[in-house]
Amino acid sequence: MLPASVSSYIDRNRQAFVDDLAKFLEIPSVSTLPDYDQDIHRAAQWVLDQLGSFGIEGRIYPTERHPVVLASSEHIPGAPVLLVYGHYDVQPPDPLDEWETPPFSPSIRNGYIHARGATDDKGQFLTYVKAAQAILGWGEKLPVNLKFLVEGEEEIGSPNLEKFLRENRAELLADAVAISDGAQFAPGIPAITYGLRGLCYFQLDVQGPRFDLHSGGFGGIVENPTQALANILAALKAPDHTVALPGFYDDVVALEKSEREELASLPVDENRIREYLGVAEFTGEPGYSVVERKGARPTLDINGIWGGFSGQGAKTIIPAKAGAKVSMRLVPDQDPARIARIFREFVEKSSPAGVKIKITELHGADPVLVSRHTPAMRAAEKAIEAGFGKKPVFIREGGSIPVVNLIKKHLGQENILLLGWGCPDDGAHSPNERFSLDDFHRGIRSVASLFYELGLHGA
Ligand code: BES
Ligand code: ZN
Repeated sequence: MLPASVSSYIDRNRQAFVDDLAKFLEIPSVSTLPDYDQDIHRAAQWVLDQLGSFGIEGRIYPTERHPVVLASSEHIPGAPVLLVYGHYDVQPPDPLDEWETPPFSPSIRNGYIHARGATDDKGQFLTYVKAAQAILGWGEKLPVNLKFLVEGEEEIGSPNLEKFLRENRAELLADAVAISDGAQFAPGIPAITYGLRGLCYFQLDVQGPRFDLHSGGFGGIVENPTQALANILAALKAPDHTVALPGFYDDVVALEKSEREELASLPVDENRIREYLGVAEFTGEPGYSVVERKGARPTLDINGIWGGFSGQGAKTIIPAKAGAKVSMRLVPDQDPARIARIFREFVEKSSPAGVKIKITELHGADPVLVSRHTPAMRAAEKAIEAGFGKKPVFIREGGSIPVVNLIKKHLGQENILLLGWGCPDDGAHSPNERFSLDDFHRGIRSVASLFYELGLHGA
């Protein structure tokens, strides 16, 4: 289905494409830490230059924080328009001493390229760039009109993207959208994702006495902020792992029997996952399978916790301060704003006298489901079969990609393809993040096939 010239270009340039991926991965474009702002700009420029090198021209748009790259191929009248989204920013690499090779010195071992951003999202996004290059670089005409929207704030919740979409709506309108920022269901089981969870993320800062106190001299007469925090956090979840915030489940749309049957038929290898995680048992909401719990049911997690003395040995104090980061993963129709209100009220109510609590909302994203019955979905199914040699399964992912809901809301577009080329065990956000070079290659072939399928049958 791929023209022979394009197919052979992809095969012949396999190594050159990997070399380019390695160059992209060398740029430490960490969005959350201000120290990396220069690298963020370098990464945006790198993306623009790559696209420009084979004729997809565009611009870098400044925002209040990190810039957006927007570029389009030369317009072909009558061909469908595909908007491709990716993010060039990455998560912080720490803990650094757990990396076998440094996070921004890409290293290839056993067929995987290891670096921060390898799978999330530089490697996956680059498959679209390389597929376009394989067509244009060979002098062929693109079968679709391509628009590239590449941002640098995904890992911090895309705070400036909504405004950007509103202001540049006309330039972003498309017949379909493609995003590869998730994963296959498991290695060798490619997937199309039709649902993502939303997010509601808080920081709690508890202030007790003005400074750390002698726990002998003052223990028993003041509230201990670490104890207060522990009590508050413990009350957020019931012993059966359900979220204890009153009203938390009110708007959750129950899973239909047919969807539960479909999710139950996915070939999940629980032993393999437990082994990868190094845990003896799965825990979670009663009455739901592992697949349901990790993609289609909401949850709450403590992401980090600090306070008091944690150095070597013993220090008898009552700490002055304690804090925690807490996030909730949401499903349709939970509204992050309503959940945020419930959370705030609950924490305020459960805070004891004698400490002050500051509740700060960090960022959020809406949960989303996309339409499964569109010509673009059929095109994606065929394209994945061409690239991976297997039909994809349909899954719901537990992570969040804020742009998906923003596209639905501001561009009125539901025709969104979430096509993960990575794997759940690629270590996104973890040390030793990696991306399989075979998956990179298969991803490029799938994307090129997608362009031709869409060109032939429409979106
Ligand atoms: N690539 C992930 C999203 C993802 C993870 C999709 C797992 C499917 C499965 C993305 O880069 C990410 O990490 N998103 C953040 C969003 C947040 C900052 C609003 C997330 O899910 O924590
Ligand atoms: Zn991420």
